[in-house]
Amino acid sequence: MRVRLLSLLAAVTLAACVVPACEKIDRNMWDSKAFKPQEEPVRLPPRDSVPTMGKEHIPPMPEAAKLVNPVKPTEGALLKGKALYRVFCVPCHGASGAGDGPVGKKYVPTPADLRPGSHGSHHSDGELFAVISNGSGGMPAFRSDLAPTERWHIVAYLRLLK
Ligand code: HEC
Repeated sequence: MRVRLLSLLAAVTLAACVVPACEKIDRNMWDSKAFKPQEEPVRLPPRDSVPTMGKEHIPPMPEAAKLVNPVKPTEGALLKGKALYRVFCVPCHGASGAGDGPVGKKYVPTPADLRPGSHGSHHSDGELFAVISNGSGGMPAFRSDLAPTERWHIVAYLRLLK
């Protein structure tokens, strides 16, 4: 009786492995869902997921010009703006903002002069924010390298250039 039960069990197991359901377990690792070498991984967010931070929206130019700098020009904020300016802007616009940074010299036209009374300084805070975010002519966009508040810190610091 016991032997018959065991052979029945073995027969059922064997039969199960022949049916397509067993293929899923027995499949070659090469055929798995993993990305193949050199294959571009498509990492889409899971279905029905929603962004928790929202997407940044920078209005087009006439409206962007009216944006108000949410960063107050406190000493700490200006120091932060200066530190960011040195990393992200000095290579092209130079430490004084004259547009004479070592990388900037290679540009035609050369980077804008950002000092008071210059072309660059005539922009409103909102325009400066939009230029930094989206770039302008040969100037690269910084919206993916700098958070919005970091860009506003730089705008606050630009007002300090002499
Ligand atoms: C890789 C070089 C480069 C870097 C880095 C760079 N700029 Fe510029 N920037 C330029 C060039 C070139 C122009 C002139 C673009 C033109 O007129 O075509 C310019 C123009 C500008 C203007 C005037 C734009 C206009 O349309 O009147 C402002 C303001 C400005 N840059 C601010 C900044 C600030 C702030 C940073 C740092 C976050 C920065 N730039 C970083 C190259 C650069």
